[in-house]
Amino acid sequence: MAVDKPSDAVPHLNYDPFSLPQRDHPYPVWSAMRDEAPVLWSDAINAWVVTRYADATRIIADTETFRNEGSTRSLATPPREVSDVLATGLPRDELRSTQDLDGPEHARIRKFLAAILTPRRIGGLAPRARQIADDLLAPMVEQGGGDFVADFAYRLPLALITQLLGIPEEDGERLHHWSTQKMALQWSRLDPQDHVRAAQDYVDFQNYLVDLIRRRRAEPIGDVVSAFTQLRMPDERPLTDTEIVGQMMGLIAAGHETTTNFLSLTLWRLLEHQEVWRSVCANPALIPGLVEEGLRLESPAGIWRRTSRAVTLHGKEIPAGARVQVLLPAANRDPDVFPSADVLDVHRGPEHPHLAFGRGIHYCIGAGLARIEGKAAFESLVSGAPGIRLAEGFVPHFKPNASQRYLERLTVEIGSLP
Ligand code: HEM
Repeated sequence: MAVDKPSDAVPHLNYDPFSLPQRDHPYPVWSAMRDEAPVLWSDAINAWVVTRYADATRIIADTETFRNEGSTRSLATPPREVSDVLATGLPRDELRSTQDLDGPEHARIRKFLAAILTPRRIGGLAPRARQIADDLLAPMVEQGGGDFVADFAYRLPLALITQLLGIPEEDGERLHHWSTQKMALQWSRLDPQDHVRAAQDYVDFQNYLVDLIRRRRAEPIGDVVSAFTQLRMPDERPLTDTEIVGQMMGLIAAGHETTTNFLSLTLWRLLEHQEVWRSVCANPALIPGLVEEGLRLESPAGIWRRTSRAVTLHGKEIPAGARVQVLLPAANRDPDVFPSADVLDVHRGPEHPHLAFGRGIHYCIGAGLARIEGKAAFESLVSGAPGIRLAEGFVPHFKPNASQRYLERLTVEIGSLP
C-alpha cells in the first residue's frame, strides 16, 4: 500500500526545520526520527527525510535510484513576479552545478573541477588561511570579544574562496550578499517583497560572473576563472560561459556558507565545554581531531536527492520523482556508529567515518580547503585568544533554512585566562 505521509504512523513526529523550537533545538526530533521514523515525510520541506547513518550511506551509494538532477530546486514553485525576474537571467536548465547533475554529465564537469582545484592549488592556501585568521582575530581580541559569525566565521572562507577563484577582493562583500540571497531563494520561505529582491540579486550575481568570465576569456591571468575558460580535456567539450557561471556559483556558495557555519557551530560547542576548550589549548595537536568532531557533531549541510523510481525504505513507499533529504547532522549522531554520539569528543581522532562532506561521486570537492580553514581558525584562536568564552547569557538562534544550519550570531568575550 502506498503511503504518502507516513507521519500518520508516528503522530507526534513532525519534522519542520522552520518552526520553533525545532529550528533552534532540533536534537530531540532528530533522535526520535532515527528511533521511530527513520524515513519520514515532511510537509514543511516537501520531502522524505532520512536520519539513520546506514540509510544515508545506502542512498548516497545508489546513484541510479537517488539522483541529483532536480533535487536542489527551490522548495516551493516561485510566484509569477519572481519567475519573471528569474527569466531575465541565464537559462535555468544550463545553469547547473555538479550538485544538480548525474552520470556522464556530472563526470564531465567534475573532471574539469578536479583538474583545476588540485590539492596543490588548495594546499598552497594554508599559510594565507592562517594569516587571514590572525588578522581577523586581532581586532576581536583588542575589543575584548564580538560576534564570531560576523567578525570572523564568514570572512575567513570568503577571503579564501575569492582568492582561490581569482575574484577581486573588493567584490567579496557583494558576492557574500548574492550568495546568501541565492541560498535564501533556494531553501528559505520569503515574503513576496524579499522573494523578488532575492531573485533580482540572483540575476545580478549571474551578470557579474558572466562579465568576469568574458574578461578572463579575452585576457587570461592564470587564476581559476581563466583556467575554466582555457582548459581543454581530451574527448570533452570545453565549458560554456553559462556552465562556468553554474560552477562558480556552486563554489562560491558551497565554498563559504558551509564553512562559516562549520566554524561557528564548532566554536559554539567547544566553548560550551570550557574544560574541552582548555584541553585543546593545552594540546593543539588535538585540533585536527576537533575539526572532524565539529564536522560530525554539528554537520552544517544536508544532502538532497530525487528518486528515479518508486522505492521502499523501512516499509515506506517513496514514489518516483520524490525529493529526499539525507539529514547528515542526524545521521552523524547515530549511536549505532558513534558511541556517545551527542558528545563533542575531541579524542575520537581525525580518522573519522562521518558524512559531513558526503561520500562517493559527489564527495565535497572543497573538503581539503574546509579542513585547512578549520585548522587555521582553531590554531589562531588557541594561540591568540585562549581566554575566549561565550558571552554571558548567550542563547543560540538559527536562521530558517531547510538545507543548512546557520547560527545567526555567536557572541563571545575574550579576556585573560581564568
Ligand atoms: C565545512 C564545509 C563544507 C561542508 C560541510 C560541505 C559539505 C558538502 C556535502 C555534504 C557535499 C555533497 C553533496 C551531495 O552529495 O549532493 C558537498 C559537495 C560539494 N562541495 Fe562542499 N562542503 C564544505 C565546503 C566546501 C568548500 C570550501 C567548497 C569549495 C571550495 C565546496 C564545494 C563543493 C562542491 C563543488 C560540491 C559538489 C561536488 C559534486 O557534486 O560532485 N564545499 N559539500
